[in-house]
Amino acid sequence: MFTSQSLSGDKPQQYAQLAAQARALLHGERDRIANAANLSALVYHALPELNWVGFYFYDGTELVVGPFQGQPACVRIPLDRGVCGAAARSGETQRVDDVNAVADHIACDAASRSEVVVPLHRDGALVGVFDLDSPVPARFDVEDQRGLEEIARVYVESLGS
Ligand code: SME
Repeated sequence: MFTSQSLSGDKPQQYAQLAAQARALLHGERDRIANAANLSALVYHALPELNWVGFYFYDGTELVVGPFQGQPACVRIPLDRGVCGAAARSGETQRVDDVNAVADHIACDAASRSEVVVPLHRDGALVGVFDLDSPVPARFDVEDQRGLEEIARVYVESLGS
């Protein structure tokens, strides 16, 4: 059984611990659904002030919701829509301090106030995005972004090549 440990130290140290936990959790398993499900649960319970953590997978046309923790979410997101679409399209992490200030934001949970979306690429191909929402405005700073990008790397590496 995997037992998560509480995080300690400053934020980069906490993310380093969380990445190590993620590696241990996904070790030896390549299934993208299983690993997305367990990683969503790990992150959702490890980090404070989150209301949604999960994955959208690219099906060759649009993003389709995958495993997540939080309220039910919109199922399909075209690449030209929303913060998730912007991350998938640009290949760059999108960090939004105030989702209400982003006209293109797609509100799945009305409680969401800030959001970070990390694109996932494997061998140069778009796999999907890793999306986190918070009920707190400006919940995610640049240290969160770096830490979550590392967690996303752990996920992509778990899929193998
Ligand atoms: N807010 C996202 C949609 C996904 S939900 O947050 C789970 C967006 O604008 O793409």
